[in-house]
Amino acid sequence: MSAFLVTGGAGFIGSNFVRHLVEHTDHTVTVLDKLTYAGNRASIDDLPAERVSLVVGDVADAAVVGPLVRDHDVVVHYAAESHNDNSLNDPSPFVQTNLVGTYVLLEAVREHGTRYHHISTDEVYGDLELDDPARFTEETPYNPSSPYSSTKAGSDLLVRAWARSFGVPATISNCSNNYGPYQHVEKFIPRQITNVLDGGRPKLYGAGLNVRDWIHADDHSSAVLRIIEAGRLGETYLIGADGEVDNKTVVEMVLRLCGQPADAYDHVTDRAGHDLRYAIDSTKLRDELGWAPQFGDFEAGLATTIDWYRDHQEWWRPQKSGVEAMYAAQGQ
Ligand code: NAD
Ligand code: DAU
Repeated sequence: MSAFLVTGGAGFIGSNFVRHLVEHTDHTVTVLDKLTYAGNRASIDDLPAERVSLVVGDVADAAVVGPLVRDHDVVVHYAAESHNDNSLNDPSPFVQTNLVGTYVLLEAVREHGTRYHHISTDEVYGDLELDDPARFTEETPYNPSSPYSSTKAGSDLLVRAWARSFGVPATISNCSNNYGPYQHVEKFIPRQITNVLDGGRPKLYGAGLNVRDWIHADDHSSAVLRIIEAGRLGETYLIGADGEVDNKTVVEMVLRLCGQPADAYDHVTDRAGHDLRYAIDSTKLRDELGWAPQFGDFEAGLATTIDWYRDHQEWWRPQKSGVEAMYAAQGQ
């Protein structure tokens, strides 16, 4: 049994990982989360108190981070500003949390010799053409497009430097787009599901031809746990489930699964600098660590996710009108 410190564990993917640890291991978990607009206590407060506790605090606050890192065996760093659209409106919290926050954590794990796993994104590699047969691998050069992805790329490079220069026992994973329960309604899939549940229409940026490589959040969690258990220190592992789908097809699926006409959506203003396509080749993770995703069927996973949002309206309703007002003000 180990003591895990999970930063950002009240957010979407972090809370799914905490649930995964409770269900599949005997580890204890301390969540360190600032509870920004994206963090929600309700995402973890049903979990057993003897296994999971929450510390409300900032990963960029060395006075909070130091003692917590000292008292835990493993640090898994999910906390971040995570939404591309927000990073276009105000990059400043992205620089502070994603870069300075990672630096503060790295200094603490360096001091205490703590095992560190860094959660990152496929967006650090930039984008691919729609007709390019290539997919991202661990060797693809970094080429981030947005303020969000550039701060994530910078945080990855800090981890690589701290591993090489100071011997910090670290691994990094770069995952593709997650879907599943507890995702904030600002993001693409929950926004469209909750629009339809509200009697409204999905909003597709531009022509909707952009491709994302979808993976269920629980598959992301099992991959991260596998890397922590068996990954080689200093290595990067890409996580993906061969789930490439274009945005228009996702919206049509959501509408069909909700019993609506497949064309009942609106085209809205495109995102500035919108990445065209992401695609992950996760051969290294599969061959070296024997990992495989459990949610192979995207449409079935999407149907379960729609059911979750239908059954948990108390979780998302408080955020919905504010998010839609923000999007409406920018023509989206
Ligand atoms: P999220 O926005 O849902 O959650 C982020 C969490 O971090 C929130 O609980 C928030 O309160 C917390 N947080 C933010 N700033 C903080 C700070 N300064 N100190 C402490 N806590 C802070 O994000 P998510 O979608 O769950 O993403 C989690 C991680 O996974 C991020 O590092 C992101 O880059 C990465 N990632 C996300 C995806 C995806 O599809 N969503 C894919 C690959 C990687
Ligand atoms: O690839 C991993 C990344 O996936 C993570 O690093 C990010 O944290 C996460 O937010 C996600 O980034 P994206 O920008 O791909 O996700 P988002 O949900 O914002 O948008 C997905 C796609 O849908 C993208 O092409 C933009 C489009 N979109 C988004 C919204 C919110 C729409 O067409 N309409 C919308 O209303």
